[in-house]
Amino acid sequence: MNSIINLICNHRSIRSFTDKSISKQQINEIISSAQSASTSSFLQCSSIIRITEKSLRSEIASISGNQRWIIESTEFWIFCADFNKHLQICNNAKLGYIEQLIIGCIDTAMMAQNAIIAAESMNLGGVFIGGIRNDINKLIKLLHLPKFVLPLFGFCLGYPKYLPEIKPRIPIEMIIHENYYSTSLDQMALKKYNTKIKNYYQDRKMNKRKDETWNKLVQRLIIQEMRPFMLKYLREQGWAIY
Ligand SMILES: Cc1cc2nc3c(=O)[nH]c(=O)nc-3n(C[C@H](O)[C@H](O)[C@H](O)COP(=O)(O)O)c2cc1C
Repeated sequence: MNSIINLICNHRSIRSFTDKSISKQQINEIISSAQSASTSSFLQCSSIIRITEKSLRSEIASISGNQRWIIESTEFWIFCADFNKHLQICNNAKLGYIEQLIIGCIDTAMMAQNAIIAAESMNLGGVFIGGIRNDINKLIKLLHLPKFVLPLFGFCLGYPKYLPEIKPRIPIEMIIHENYYSTSLDQMALKKYNTKIKNYYQDRKMNKRKDETWNKLVQRLIIQEMRPFMLKYLREQGWAIY
């Protein structure tokens, strides 16, 4: 395993940070790394909003279900899909296609992943925050977001106070298909994985959970619509009309 693969495979989300500061140069390098990600049709349809005002962070933390790491992290950024700059360059731009929404989400996610890898290579750590979408209308007002800027997730960044255990992923047999998609789940692999996850949750140092399995987690989360206002919001903002 080379050092880059080792770094990537050692990822764990960090939700507890020391007071050690992050330099301007580090921030620039992380953002340059983010920007170096591939971008669909070279459209570069993403923006990052760096939240430096304390009061704003508190409001965003409250939108996000009071996740304290939003307030405590050294840096807090919001990754957005952004076609507003394209609208300014091309005033007869036709926006609102679902494909533009997909491109915006893919490109922005790729950028963010590059950002976290760059940060982790500096011994920094972070966690993404989907919770910012809990009240997306309030968020766009708070951040003065114009049309066609879609806030996707936040990113808390800083030096880790401690390194939590790595969360084991589903076995490779469950994600790789050869040539054709196979609908038959590898039940043996799944069973083994559920035992692994159960052990992970009961053995980890913080926030232990008893009798948790991946099956249970999926069954809890996937039986109801998450953030049911999303389609209405997207349409109001001009996204996903066609
Ligand atoms: C788009 C996205 C949104 C996320 N939102 C949150 C969040 O709101 N709060 C949080 O604590 N973790 C959040 N996470 C982190 C996941 O919970 C975490 O990545 C997952 O449990 C796997 O753990 P690991 O990153 O430590 O390997 C998010 C991750 C992603 C990719």
